[in-house]
Amino acid sequence: MPSMVRAAEIAEHVGEEVILKGWVYNRTHKGKLVFLLIRDGYGFVQCVAFERDLDPELFDTIAHIPQESSVVITGQVRADGRAPGIPGGYELGIISLEIIQSVAGDYPIALKEHGVDFLSDHRHLWIRMPSQWAILRIRATVISSIREWLDSNGFTLVDTPILTPAACEGTTTLFATEYFDEGTAYLAQSGQLYNEANIFAFGKVYCFGPTFRAEKSKTRRHLTEFWMVEPEMAFCDLEQLMEIEEQFISHVVQRALRECRAELSALERDISALERIEPPFPRVSYDEALEKLAEIRAQTEDPELKELLEIAWGDDFGSPHETELTKLFQKPVFVYGYPAAAKAFYMEPWPDRPDVSKSVDLLAPEGYGEITGGSERISDPELLLQRIREHQLPEDSFRWYIDLRRYGSVPHSGFGLGVERTVAWICGIDHIRETIPYPRMINRVYP
Ligand code: 4AD
Ligand code: MG
Repeated sequence: MPSMVRAAEIAEHVGEEVILKGWVYNRTHKGKLVFLLIRDGYGFVQCVAFERDLDPELFDTIAHIPQESSVVITGQVRADGRAPGIPGGYELGIISLEIIQSVAGDYPIALKEHGVDFLSDHRHLWIRMPSQWAILRIRATVISSIREWLDSNGFTLVDTPILTPAACEGTTTLFATEYFDEGTAYLAQSGQLYNEANIFAFGKVYCFGPTFRAEKSKTRRHLTEFWMVEPEMAFCDLEQLMEIEEQFISHVVQRALRECRAELSALERDISALERIEPPFPRVSYDEALEKLAEIRAQTEDPELKELLEIAWGDDFGSPHETELTKLFQKPVFVYGYPAAAKAFYMEPWPDRPDVSKSVDLLAPEGYGEITGGSERISDPELLLQRIREHQLPEDSFRWYIDLRRYGSVPHSGFGLGVERTVAWICGIDHIRETIPYPRMINRVYP
């Protein structure tokens, strides 16, 4: 009895007779040959039917098998450099083929160019295509390596709630829902505030889950539901935070490089750009970044870019600023010390510069921009209360949070990494909607 193989491991079975279970992604003919590109969830394999070798009825069935029909194929594995597939380079000479379901009618995603709206409406089928399959496999590896690094570096996973009584990242992007007799609850924008409680019990913690922002932004970097991992550490300052981030992100990229070669090459990703990702990453202060942007503005001939890059001290960076800054470096770059007014209420002020916060964003290279946001947190209870009042946040909802500074306060820091933006950068794709199985954006909740 031949053994069942997965497409990803086909190279280990050259010369053997094996069974492959999957779906017909594509079918092409060349004279007395029919080529089926079969996907099995683990990759894509070319399977070849040769008229001379097969029963005429079976050959005819194969020659007419509809796209996306489910099949069980028995065949012999051969190495052939010309064979397309993921990973490619191997093919299966078909000995027998059983159809589980022959698709009747036309499959909606015929193999031709489709608009992204059409594909998004068919996301439940689009994920079968090689590019989408590759991206989501890389996403799974990224998530796995995030957990692996944190779990093996002393971080305890402490889950934080999704239904919350108050805002963490500003009140303008909250999804509200009625909550029985308790008034309004909000979908979590971040687990950070709870992480801060958790470090006083566990030292180093992380939470990892879906995060919600009612952002009115229709950009290629914004989803309304995205996944964020948030590590938080007691006895940690801004400099130590950056050291941890660069170790962590380098690990994630290097593991994707090791384990997702076939997927990255299916996406035609420039591997050398990822191979460079190892510590240390450059560090630039907000003030220095403004100077660099001013230089770029002064040098550019492009009036549109000149206008886009206009910025005054105190403003947060927009995408164009981040994009230009990242082009100056081959690695992710830390931009630290943002104006306090541009950032969240909980950030520790810079010593002797109260207008500046001990904040840091990590901008991914090649124009990708912000993938992490973090800071040292205010550790003094009085200052924290003052900031909550200045931001007109509901004091009552934050009583527990202020408590944390009363009972054993220490310098502490943390950051949040957006999974989708990170995956988009690693995959080298333009829009983050393809990095999550079922994207949620202001104009999309289907399917
Ligand atoms: O910079 P943000 O808003 O930081 C926080 O939420 C902090 N409380 C995190 C922390 O310190 N624990 O978000 C962190 C990251 C961003 O850098 C970005 O990668 C991602 O989350 N992100 C989004 N990703 C997709 N769509 C959106 N609308 C996003 N908003 C933020
Ligand atoms: Mg941010």
